[in-house]
Amino acid sequence: MEVKTSLLDNMIGVGDMVLLEPLSEDSFLGNLKKRFDHSEIYTYIGSVVISMNPYRSLPIYTPEKVEEYRNRNFYELSPHIYALADEAYRSLRDQDKDQCILITGESGAGKTEASKLVMSYVAAVCGKGHEVNKVKEQLLQSNPVLEAFGNAKTVRNDNSSRFGKYMDIEFDFKGDPLGGVISNYLLEKSRVVKQPRGERNFHVFYQLLSGASDDTLRKLKLDRDFSKYNYLSLDSAAVSGLDDAANFRTVRNAMQIVGFMEDEVQSVLELVAAVLKLGNIEFKPESRCNGTDESRVKDKNDLKEMCELLGIEQSVLERAFSYRTVEAKMEKVSTTLNVAQAYYARDALAKNLYSRLFSWLVTRINESIQAQTKARHKVMGVLDIYGFEIFENGDNSFEQFIINYCNEKLQQIFIELTLREEQEEYIREGIEWTNIEYFNNAIICDLIENNQNGILAMLDEECLRPGTVTDETFLDKLNTICADHQHFESRLNKNSKFLNDHSLPHNCFRIQHYAGKVLYRVEGFVDKNNDLLYRDLSQAMYKANHSLIKQLFPEGNPAKVNLKRPLTAGFQFRASVGTLMRNLQTKNPNYIRCIKPNDKKASHIFTDSLVRHQVRYLGLMENVRVRRAGYAFRQPYEPCLERYKMLCKRTWPHWKGPAREGVEVLMADLQIPTEEISYGRSKIFIRNPRTLFFLEEKRKQCLQDLATLIQKIYRGWKCRTHFLLMKKSQIVVAAWYRRYAQQKKYRNIKSATTMVQSYTRGWQARKLLRELKHQKRCEEAVTTIAAFWHGTQVRREYRKFFRANAGKKIYDFTIQRIIQKYFLGLKSSMPSMSPIDRKWPARPYGFLDGVHTELRKIFHHWRCKKYRDQFTEEKKAVYEEKLEASEIFKDKKALYPSSVSQPFKGDYLEISKNPKYQKLNSAVDEKVLLADVVNKINRANGKGTPRIFLLTKKNFVLADQKTGQVKASIPLPDVTSVSVSTQKDGFFALKLKEGSASAVKGDFLLSSEHLIEIITKLHRIGATAADREKLKVDISDEFLVQFKQDKVCVKFIQSSPKNGNSVSCKRKNNRLLEVSVPTSP
Ligand SMILES: Nc1ncnc2c1ncn2[C@@H]1O[C@H](COP(=O)(O)OP(=O)(O)O)[C@@H](O)[C@H]1O
Ligand SMILES: [Mg+2]
Repeated sequence: MEVKTSLLDNMIGVGDMVLLEPLSEDSFLGNLKKRFDHSEIYTYIGSVVISMNPYRSLPIYTPEKVEEYRNRNFYELSPHIYALADEAYRSLRDQDKDQCILITGESGAGKTEASKLVMSYVAAVCGKGHEVNKVKEQLLQSNPVLEAFGNAKTVRNDNSSRFGKYMDIEFDFKGDPLGGVISNYLLEKSRVVKQPRGERNFHVFYQLLSGASDDTLRKLKLDRDFSKYNYLSLDSAAVSGLDDAANFRTVRNAMQIVGFMEDEVQSVLELVAAVLKLGNIEFKPESRCNGTDESRVKDKNDLKEMCELLGIEQSVLERAFSYRTVEAKMEKVSTTLNVAQAYYARDALAKNLYSRLFSWLVTRINESIQAQTKARHKVMGVLDIYGFEIFENGDNSFEQFIINYCNEKLQQIFIELTLREEQEEYIREGIEWTNIEYFNNAIICDLIENNQNGILAMLDEECLRPGTVTDETFLDKLNTICADHQHFESRLNKNSKFLNDHSLPHNCFRIQHYAGKVLYRVEGFVDKNNDLLYRDLSQAMYKANHSLIKQLFPEGNPAKVNLKRPLTAGFQFRASVGTLMRNLQTKNPNYIRCIKPNDKKASHIFTDSLVRHQVRYLGLMENVRVRRAGYAFRQPYEPCLERYKMLCKRTWPHWKGPAREGVEVLMADLQIPTEEISYGRSKIFIRNPRTLFFLEEKRKQCLQDLATLIQKIYRGWKCRTHFLLMKKSQIVVAAWYRRYAQQKKYRNIKSATTMVQSYTRGWQARKLLRELKHQKRCEEAVTTIAAFWHGTQVRREYRKFFRANAGKKIYDFTIQRIIQKYFLGLKSSMPSMSPIDRKWPARPYGFLDGVHTELRKIFHHWRCKKYRDQFTEEKKAVYEEKLEASEIFKDKKALYPSSVSQPFKGDYLEISKNPKYQKLNSAVDEKVLLADVVNKINRANGKGTPRIFLLTKKNFVLADQKTGQVKASIPLPDVTSVSVSTQKDGFFALKLKEGSASAVKGDFLLSSEHLIEIITKLHRIGATAADREKLKVDISDEFLVQFKQDKVCVKFIQSSPKNGNSVSCKRKNNRLLEVSVPTSP
């Protein structure tokens, strides 16, 4: 909850002077001082803010402060300028009321600072966004520009505004700034040509000379040295804490932001330079023949440079300084100027040039910052005008008169508006209007501005009057006309009461302003009011080849010669003040009254007399009195009830009914006298501050009691809540503990039960098992016994049969089983199908020996048969031959084994193909079964002669190996037997049938490498021919061979291999041929 604070909380002194009790000037000052000493520079008089210049920076303008005061009620926080700014801004934004902020106070009291603070506060709290920020920036940046041209160092203030400024800031319906309009009032232009001691000319001159670049200065034909210029007073050119060079840059930057073009800036600087140059133009007298003095320009260099700067023809200007043309009734009269007049003309030109430049700047800034839309807008005006100015030694002149007049008007409007507002509020609230006694300064305003006999009107009259017009004649006039006015005092008054008043010199008059008496010296009034600039000068200016200068002197245009006198300064000022006042009257006023605490520009010093003086002339006491004339304090019912409801039992702590009734009950209860308070429609009005303080005091006491009560209740509540919390916690803890304990107990019981259960079950199971086992054993035993018993019975019964057959049966069964097993085993271990595979499983049982061998044989035969079944016819024939060879020779002749592997080729000579044997082939008409070369053994020496041996189905032929000539052809039936040895030799003897034709030459003893084949083939032919006997084959190592008549024995012996590896045949004698056959190694 937001803490509701009030202005009345933690107050140092009294935050609102209306509440000051008792009210006197001393108590007023005392309160101001007390607050000032505690750095409380702001104090209220109702809604008026009094601001004391702290002359030091205080930490109360931070963004946090802005936030603090944003959207808060005026009296909610301690007094601050932000509260006023916020109030003004909010009622502008929310209630659509145009506002004006009127800042008054003596020079150096902080008016300009205050206006800047208000503007910056409004800038901080109003809308944001690119466009809005640009507008804000331009509005804020207009300040440095105007300050440079319009402010100067004075004895009172290092940055004193020498012009009045009123700025309208325009907002749209949302409260976003749109733009602004600045009005300026009466620049103190006399400062351009002359400054009082200890004061400076306007800042811009110093800034230009110290801050501009060498190049710029050269262009402007200026010198950096201040002492070169007559218009710049020397004694206080440099001001401590004021950096002119840096400020020059700031100003140039600000001009750029505001929207000045580069050439515009240049023109402005040229004019500033021209003013400086103008000051340096000096005149010397030159006597003329008619005895009058005429002025001449002393040193024309400055004049020349100035003319160059502004593009003026030098001679034109020079002439304007020497002559004056007066036009009257269509006649032109030219008179010469003396030196004094020339100087007057020069200074008048300088002043006019500068002040017109200043006005142009304001207009130019307005062009930039004016609102872009024509839409209806709300306005907040900020008036920063020079305050009441009184020079103690009576040095007050026309300027002060004007200034004070302005302040008088402001006071008027203040009184009017405040009272009107006050009155309106009473009417609004339905409170009886009691007339308020206050001093109305309308009478003083009338004295000054009255159209018939006002001082300003008379001054104008005097200025326009033909004849000699001096300040003295003006004073005379005043003395006659205003003599009876109670606020006008003069020594030469008809009213003789001032005749002996020595504080009132003869050439002066005194006005009793609302803020005090001011003594004005009449000297210069007429001149200053006239503000004359000779037409020759304005025409010279108009002729300048410089666009800005031309603009500034429109009256110099010869085409628009106006013979009427220009308006007087007083008249102009009166008119603009009138406009301003009318403007302000349409707006809701907010006042800031600035007070300067000391003359030394020092912090922490509070000069009593000085402040007292200001309090007087600012009319602050009046202010308070006016405010208090009705009711000192007012407050809406709700906050009032909220603040004081604790003072009455019936309203505390809550009042159910309407707030107003609550307040009435409350006040009645407190026995506040009825004349002290009035009940408006929405507010309660308290007449006397005392009553308010009484309420506050009561409240303070009550708050202490309440604090105790609150403490008491709070402590009680705290203890009780703590206790309840503890109790609740205890229950929770207990519940949890019980639960835990029960759970634990339950778990214990459960596990114990399970244990007991398991033991019991185990025991029961074991018991059952035992029983079952026992039962089973019993059953088994019964079965066994029964079986045995049955067995015994059956055996007993069958014993007689069993003894006769059982042995054989068992035997048969066993044998059967063994054989079965044997065959199954054999089946799984059969050897391969190759006939030459000799493997055969070992026999398992001795009694199966025969079967085993037989089976092996059968298997072998079977696989041989299978093998044979694959043979072709030719192959079969070949094998039959081989078989026959084996039948004949196997185990009989040692040569046989070596022949087994050799296939029987038959035709070794390829007789049909070989052309050598063609003849031989044709000689044999049958198919040749065998053709080979054999050796025919000669009986005589046992040597062999090679012969071709051909065998057909019918006969065999021997032919010469070389010639192929048939030597013998023997039909096979003539061959009876054949003899061979048992050895490895190839000898064989073919024995012929005795008595046959072939036998004549005897038997044939031959040797061949293919002996086995030859004999087998012979034998086969013999076996197949039905008509013949089977050829007999004799195998022995000794046989007889019939050679013609002789029978020779052929004997085969075995020889050792060392006698050569070949078979040798030798004739031993007539009857013996010995064949030695080497034994194989
Ligand atoms: N609120 C403030 N806080 C700090 N210094 C201030 C304040 N108001 C004024 N001053 C100081 O006083 C000087 C004069 O103030 P200024 O506003 O120029 O006076 P005025 O405009 O009334 O002549 C400023 O230059 C500044 O140094
Ligand atoms: Mg100022």
